[in-house]
Amino acid sequence: MSEAGKIVEGKPVSASRVTMTHLVQPTEANPLGSVHGGVIMRLVDEVGAVAAIRHARRPVVTAAVDRLSFRSPVSVGNLLILKASVNFVGRTSMEVGVRVEAEDLPTGQVTHTSSAYLVYVALDDQGRPSPVPPLIPETDEDRRRMAEAEFRRRLRLMKLGHEKEGLSRPPQ
Ligand SMILES: CC(C)(COP(=O)(O)OP(=O)(O)OC[C@H]1O[C@@H](n2cnc3c(N)ncnc32)[C@H](O)[C@@H]1OP(=O)(O)O)[C@@H](O)C(=O)NCCC(=O)NCCS
Repeated sequence: MSEAGKIVEGKPVSASRVTMTHLVQPTEANPLGSVHGGVIMRLVDEVGAVAAIRHARRPVVTAAVDRLSFRSPVSVGNLLILKASVNFVGRTSMEVGVRVEAEDLPTGQVTHTSSAYLVYVALDDQGRPSPVPPLIPETDEDRRRMAEAEFRRRLRLMKLGHEKEGLSRPPQ
């Protein structure tokens, strides 16, 4: 039930899952021919936001980016394949997991290059956090991701609490 008293139906993970591709251009590379990390970060945020907007069907903002890793370099001419799915939802926030792969087009070899977890918050028409539909896991994989995301959320909120406490304390 939402605050307005309306029944809010849950949405399955598959309803918001996204795959996006991007061909790496020479202008996105450093002198060694590898793509800049910032280019991948922007694409990761973009694909994650699309999954979150699809789930919430509302505008979202990025609240946090967790554990963005770069496992191997990506070269000019590679096709980046970015896959995003909503792992967990709170009241107004959603954790989205993003996996990035690079396909070497001439050989077809696919390498896992990056992974990240991002938190998005849905906004109402006044720009305030707005409730999102519950998430319905459909597979064992969805359930595993949901349990792990719930654990990360607890750690994140604990850390956030400590940071806020630290900020409210005057410097010694
Ligand atoms: C994200 C934002 C809307 C949260 O606003 P707020 O006043 O802190 O809102 P609340 O305290 O009510 O928290 C709302 C939700 O956000 C979550 N949240 C807030 N800050 C967070 C953070 N740093 N990390 C993870 N989650 C966070 C809360 O846990 C809560 O989740 P829940 O409703 O699922 O329980 C606000 O901090 C903001 O606008 N930040 C700037 C976002 C931005 O500009 N991003 C980059 C460009 S898109």
